[in-house]
Amino acid sequence: MTGMGLDYATGLSAPCTVIRMRAIPGAWHRTAAGAGLVGPDGTISPTIFAEMSALAADTGAINLGQGFPDEDGPAAVLDAARAAIAAGANQYPPGRGIPDLLLAVAEHQHRFYGLALDPGREVLITAGATEALAATLLALIDGPDDEVVVFEPHYDSYAAVVALAGARLRTVPLRWPDFQPDLDELRSTVTDRTRVILVNDPHNPTGAVFGQEVRDEVVRLAERHDAVIVTDEVYEHLVFDGAHVPIATVPGASERTLTISSAGKTFSTTGWKIGWVSGPAALVDAVLAVKQFLTYVNGSPFQPAIAAGLRLPDEFFTGIASTLRDKRDLLGAGLRAAGFAVSTPRGSYFTVADAAPLGATDAAAFCRELPRRAGVVAIPLTAFATPERRAGYATLVRFAACKRVAVLEDAAARLAAAG
Ligand SMILES: Cc1ncc(COP(=O)(O)O)c(C=O)c1O
Repeated sequence: MTGMGLDYATGLSAPCTVIRMRAIPGAWHRTAAGAGLVGPDGTISPTIFAEMSALAADTGAINLGQGFPDEDGPAAVLDAARAAIAAGANQYPPGRGIPDLLLAVAEHQHRFYGLALDPGREVLITAGATEALAATLLALIDGPDDEVVVFEPHYDSYAAVVALAGARLRTVPLRWPDFQPDLDELRSTVTDRTRVILVNDPHNPTGAVFGQEVRDEVVRLAERHDAVIVTDEVYEHLVFDGAHVPIATVPGASERTLTISSAGKTFSTTGWKIGWVSGPAALVDAVLAVKQFLTYVNGSPFQPAIAAGLRLPDEFFTGIASTLRDKRDLLGAGLRAAGFAVSTPRGSYFTVADAAPLGATDAAAFCRELPRRAGVVAIPLTAFATPERRAGYATLVRFAACKRVAVLEDAAARLAAAG
């Protein structure tokens, strides 16, 4: 590929490892650009998660960057997957998912939220929430006149998939320290061009849990502008005060809402990639039309295991929230002791801290330095923001609390020693 133009930097730290690919046509370029991975000189960078995880590996730093647990989830779920492999669940499952998991998702939505779903028509199993989001957005948006409204900062796949679909991302900023949206800004961003309002609650990267007034306004605006609401609720069981409330439960919402979630965060099985989307049959069918040509199906032996997980007793679900709440408190106290200002998250794996009191002016530079300075890896919030809005997050850093207590204690001690 040498000599073709655009530089594709495949090396994580070595700028010399470059594939030149300007002449390769296709949607890959706008996808990478949508995710903010194309530099001013045309160089394509790895994601910040790849860069920071590589830095953690290079330096031996504690990785509080990427959001995955360092402990296994419930033994009953892991055992069920082993049993399913032994029992021969090793070939393609049905396109929508195995009936027992479809039923378990429907039962779960009813048990926790009072939502009634027809498991055969209103639930679809996907390769994680990531595929559910991609298939849903690709199914519902179509070209430059369509807009998707999201809160910002946001999970990185949203902007990439909206760009892949050739549509336009419109964002509503969430501001330090509570990261709740301004409803007037939300109202002025949703228009008749809005095809989808995409809401991630509990929210990555900020840890915000949105108030009822936000849910109500999203539904009112979706009705007024005939938009579909898509939710990303992968942290639904990691809410620290009170219960999670899906937007689909707001009156008027269920007929226009696709609810997305996944097993990864709830059962500490992020590598299994079992997710689901649920909602009105016609919308689920539209998602299936795309999804069946992305992966078709996945995770045969994991599907019955997640069905078992979704049927675990209430104590399991309250237990994971309270364990993570304790870890949040431990991490928050450590960050404060090290001199950061801290926004207390109300859900999710993550805590956002302001490094300005430590003299930081550029969160990305601060995070590149932190592994060597303190032996800890974190992610700058600017990585979750569009370039125009990055200034609003310039000194903010995201830390993941989903690690063993001893690891969090070690990280807190290292940060305090370096501060
Ligand atoms: C907000 C959000 N949505 C979706 C995902 C991806 O979920 P999955 O691993 O099920 O694809 C993540 C993972 O970090 C996330 O934080």
